[in-house]
Amino acid sequence: MRTTRVWCSGTVYRMSIGTGVLRQAGDELDRLGFSGRVVVVTDETVEALFGEELERSLRDAGFEPEVIVIPPGEERKSLETAGVIYSRLNELAVERSTPLLALGGGVIGDLTGFVAATYFRGLPLVHVPTTLLAQVDSSLGGKVAVNHGMLKNNVGGFHQPVAVLADISTLLRLPEREFRNGLAEVIKSAVIRDEGFLEFLESRMDDVLLRDESVLEKMVAVTAGIKAAVVQEDERDHGLRNILNFGHTIGHGIETASGFTLCHGEGVAIGMVAAAKMSVAMGLLEPGELTRLRSLLVRTGLPVTMPEGIEPSVVLAAMARDKKRAGGRLRFVLPTRLGEVIIRNDVPGNLVEEMVLESNVVA
Ligand SMILES: NC(=O)c1ccc[n+]([C@@H]2O[C@H](COP(=O)([O-])OP(=O)(O)OC[C@H]3O[C@@H](n4cnc5c(N)ncnc54)[C@H](O)[C@@H]3O)[C@@H](O)[C@H]2O)c1
Ligand SMILES: [Zn+2]
Repeated sequence: MRTTRVWCSGTVYRMSIGTGVLRQAGDELDRLGFSGRVVVVTDETVEALFGEELERSLRDAGFEPEVIVIPPGEERKSLETAGVIYSRLNELAVERSTPLLALGGGVIGDLTGFVAATYFRGLPLVHVPTTLLAQVDSSLGGKVAVNHGMLKNNVGGFHQPVAVLADISTLLRLPEREFRNGLAEVIKSAVIRDEGFLEFLESRMDDVLLRDESVLEKMVAVTAGIKAAVVQEDERDHGLRNILNFGHTIGHGIETASGFTLCHGEGVAIGMVAAAKMSVAMGLLEPGELTRLRSLLVRTGLPVTMPEGIEPSVVLAAMARDKKRAGGRLRFVLPTRLGEVIIRNDVPGNLVEEMVLESNVVA
């Protein structure tokens, strides 16, 4: 088992990563000084797979777990579901010191985090992420939110967990597509910050895809470490944290234009290739580095070109809406080599258009 320390908001918390972390959850909560009642929030799918193991660990350590189960799905990340959870917390007469445990993927993490941030102006939060995306991305950084109206993550805040417990063995149960979805963020993290890690991924991708637990443990630890480092340096999302958006500017437009038939990681994979192409076109990146990135993504099974049926004009329109929300500027994270990026907000509009159009082309 590995641990990473994360400093945020003047506090430090521990992220435990490894096989069997779920079994040790009770002891970890005990070590953190909690006792008595704890509330687990999870979804039906995750509850069926891991609920019992977590509850047993909590009971064995002397806790009284209460479990709130909601149906799975992004549409549950809403004020309405938060309301259902608030009502249950009222019924359970929880106290300000009662920890909420978010057992599940990013949806459960964001929703439970949102409830933890707001109920009694803040309950202790423990993330128990069970998707690759949640282990390497959404459980770190303290962003919590629900979706409202047609917008994603538009109602939320910052609430740091007191601990993150990432059990690698939960990843063995993830559907292929969910697993690859998380791998897009893993590859992104290597490209923005760590060439040595990128080389590790290149040499061990077959074992990653076979879900060798020791390789996954290292992969999750390094990726989480990269996110933690970036977030620590820029906790409130002012500057540096933007590098985490590599591949996301065009990627998010593609995801939206697909009507969310493409998952986030798939949009990001196509977006990373488009951003790297842009970098080559601007003379910032060697073409060989683009080829290298593209071949790693292809080996991972992620798309590198836009599938048929997605109109570039619709992608550009979605990007224009994002741009408006971002204060009128599209920011691009551009690699200068694999392992290093720069942020540019002066990419000419015609180059952006060209890159989106080219995302349709099988290279
Ligand atoms: N807070 C942040 O900083 C941040 C960052 C990135 C993404 N997010 C949010 O994360 C959400 C996406 O998270 P996600 O990709 O984890 O999706 P998700 O939470 O919807 O989980 C995907 C599916 O996998 C199932 N599942 C979870 N763990 C499983 C397991 N071990 N085995 C089998 N099935 C399992 C879930 O029931 C669900 O159906 C989005 O809402 C996004 O906005 C937040
Ligand atoms: Zn992302």
